[in-house]
Amino acid sequence: MTPFTQKIVHVFNLLTMMILTLLCALFILVFKMQTEPLPGCATKDEPMPALGCMPTPTFTNGEQALYNYGKSLFNNNCQQCHSSGADVIVGPGLKGVLNRRSIDWLITWVQNSQKVIASGDPYAVKLYNKYNKTMMQSFTLTTSEVKAILFYVTNYGSSKVVYIDSLHTPENKKD
Ligand code: HEC
Repeated sequence: MTPFTQKIVHVFNLLTMMILTLLCALFILVFKMQTEPLPGCATKDEPMPALGCMPTPTFTNGEQALYNYGKSLFNNNCQQCHSSGADVIVGPGLKGVLNRRSIDWLITWVQNSQKVIASGDPYAVKLYNKYNKTMMQSFTLTTSEVKAILFYVTNYGSSKVVYIDSLHTPENKKD
């Protein structure tokens, strides 16, 4: 081997090693991304496909427990008809619902929506007609259970913690 070809072989070896190191680093990165939730995600099961991930506020332990409790109640009772985002499933997406109605109205509604409609409440009647008179069944959920669900849907995808009890009453503002 001439010194020149030796040099070429040496450079070639160096390049191969560099490429291998880069590949290893890439492999570790991809592996880490798959096993750990992405930054800003509460859990891996809450991805928002378009953005990759839903941001979740930094909760205290108590708030996190309330969020998880609301989420499980939502998943068990509401998820088949509602999204916690904005898209319509059977009923409207519940994102921002506390900007549309007050907590008290929402509690009464969830416990017995047909009663609210029968009372002639204009918002309820309009919504019921808009959704082709699809019945939302009554739920034997307590006030605090409905509040936990509302805490969950309000904070889902929010970048800071929203305390639902401190929100103003939107009734008579947007109908
Ligand atoms: C069988 C389907 C179904 C289930 C289950 C269901 N809903 Fe609904 N919901 C609807 C429909 C449909 C509407 C629209 C009004 C109507 O047709 O009565 C609605 C309306 C609402 C509204 C009013 C939304 C707005 O934009 O003003 C809220 C709040 C709501 N539902 C909460 C809940 C919660 C909380 C649960 C679970 C405890 C739940 N719903 C379970 C079908 C459902």
